Amino acid sequence: MKEVIVVASGKGGVGKTFFTANMGAKLAQKGFSVVLIDLNIGLRSLDIYLGMENRVVYDISDVTSGTCRLKQALIKDRRLNKLYLMSAPQNKSKADISPEQLTELCNELKETFDYIIIDAPSGLEKGFTLAATPADKAVIITVPEYAAIRDADMLDQVLDGMGIENKSVVVNKIMPELYGKGIVPDPLEISDSLRSPISGLIPYDLNINISANMGVPIVLAKGNYIEKNISNIVESIIR
Ligand SMILES: Nc1ncnc2c1ncn2[C@@H]1O[C@H](COP(=O)(O)OP(=O)(O)OP(=O)(O)O)[C@@H](O)[C@H]1O
Ligand SMILES: [Mg+2]
Repeated sequence: MKEVIVVASGKGGVGKTFFTANMGAKLAQKGFSVVLIDLNIGLRSLDIYLGMENRVVYDISDVTSGTCRLKQALIKDRRLNKLYLMSAPQNKSKADISPEQLTELCNELKETFDYIIIDAPSGLEKGFTLAATPADKAVIITVPEYAAIRDADMLDQVLDGMGIENKSVVVNKIMPELYGKGIVPDPLEISDSLRSPISGLIPYDLNINISANMGVPIVLAKGNYIEKNISNIVESIIR
């Protein structure tokens, strides 16, 4: 089944790009063909998290404006031959992508790829609406902070309003050692505050931060303990 999945959050910096890179790598490891689209126009980072920053020549706006062909903007991962990136433009003024253009592009990509995963900009503004327009499914990323959970719930409602009912939540940066002290919400409390099911929890871990900086999705890092965790989350999302 071909699917467009948008990875979104209300609050910024919660781990959308980290999760997009790792979900893409995990699905490609599982044998699916995957393209990751960065829609953080003017503020791209997925290329860095994938270690592809020196290989971006054309971006999505070059495709929609007709400057290049679709294939020319697809960057193939050197580790996983079924993983591709389509980058966002660095120059904000260059980009004027309409929801119709993005939907048409995703439909074209569906002919080749099993999964098209869109890394959305945070918030509920125009950039997010654009990113969510072609989505069949949404992954809402949040963190164990009351403000982030409220934002996640707002986002969930907006997605409902857009007709995207298939949603799952990933709670990132959890710190189990702080549970039970009344200082951070625990998973049960988070689950009670949200309308969509939680697909998984990912711990706060500096290795995740380091791997993003090194351009290596942590699921590809040797001997990492988190691969199984992310694999289970991905299975639950695509189920
Ligand atoms: N589980 C984690 N443990 C530790 N650091 C993490 C974890 N997840 C993400 N990070 C780090 O948190 C920072 C923000 O992550 P990321 O860029 O993926 O967030 P984002 O939601 O895409 O942000 P933005 O809203 O700016 O696009 C990065 O430095 C990243 O390496
Ligand atoms: Mg991001």
